[in-house]
Amino acid sequence: MSLEKASGMVKVKNIAKSIKNGQHSIEILKNINLEINTGEILSIMGPSGCGKSTLLGVIGGIDKPDKGKVLIGDTDLYALKNEELDIFRNENIGIVFQNHCLVEELSLIENIELPSIFSEKKENFESKIAELIELLGLKGKEKLYPYQLSGGEKQRTAIARALINNPKVLIADEPTGALDSSNSNNILRLFRELVNNFSISIIISTHDCHVSEVSDRQIKMLDGELYEA
Ligand SMILES: Nc1ncnc2c1ncn2[C@@H]1O[C@H](COP(=O)(O)OP(=O)(O)O)[C@@H](O)[C@H]1O
Ligand SMILES: [Mg+2]
Repeated sequence: MSLEKASGMVKVKNIAKSIKNGQHSIEILKNINLEINTGEILSIMGPSGCGKSTLLGVIGGIDKPDKGKVLIGDTDLYALKNEELDIFRNENIGIVFQNHCLVEELSLIENIELPSIFSEKKENFESKIAELIELLGLKGKEKLYPYQLSGGEKQRTAIARALINNPKVLIADEPTGALDSSNSNNILRLFRELVNNFSISIIISTHDCHVSEVSDRQIKMLDGELYEA
């Protein structure tokens, strides 16, 4: 266990990314280097527009950087072919988006199940779904559709969906941004339970000091650069 904790699960090396705005190119991520261990909750804190969502997208394998590498375990994400990356991401990286992005036409339980349909892992997903519904306090809500759920329930459904394939890394973009303090505390308690019980690394972006206080390590982001807090 201690060896596991000491291993760098996520390694972000010399990441840079710019976007073109007319004739100008704006650097959103500037030479980012970062390591996250298994069993660790890392928070990235910074004001709106500093590049948090962009960085999480790069780490999550959904946004290719202009320069640099992202390693998950031994896998160099952007060295994979597109379809290999899709499979790797689905099975190893859970992402909770800022606006939770549930599928409106699917019920709560179908939303949670969705990533498992595309997984090649041979697992008993039915029992995993039941376990997550219990863990996230969603029992009795299985058949409801997103429009019938509260903000907190939608957020917890999105977290369950991100966890269904037993990812090595969970990425959560401002997961408590739209929640009241009691819902927000429940989610933070859940994240702690997850790192204590599973072999997982959690990366959270936030502008909430409270969230960053309950993480194991805080990093500050400003204008596309990281600073140790
Ligand atoms: N697709 C895009 N087109 C133009 N500008 C973008 C795009 N994505 C992000 N940006 C800009 O990049 C900067 C960083 O954005 P973002 O990563 O969303 O920051 P944060 O999540 O910290 O609020 C912002 O200035 C934003 O306006
Ligand atoms: Mg953002």
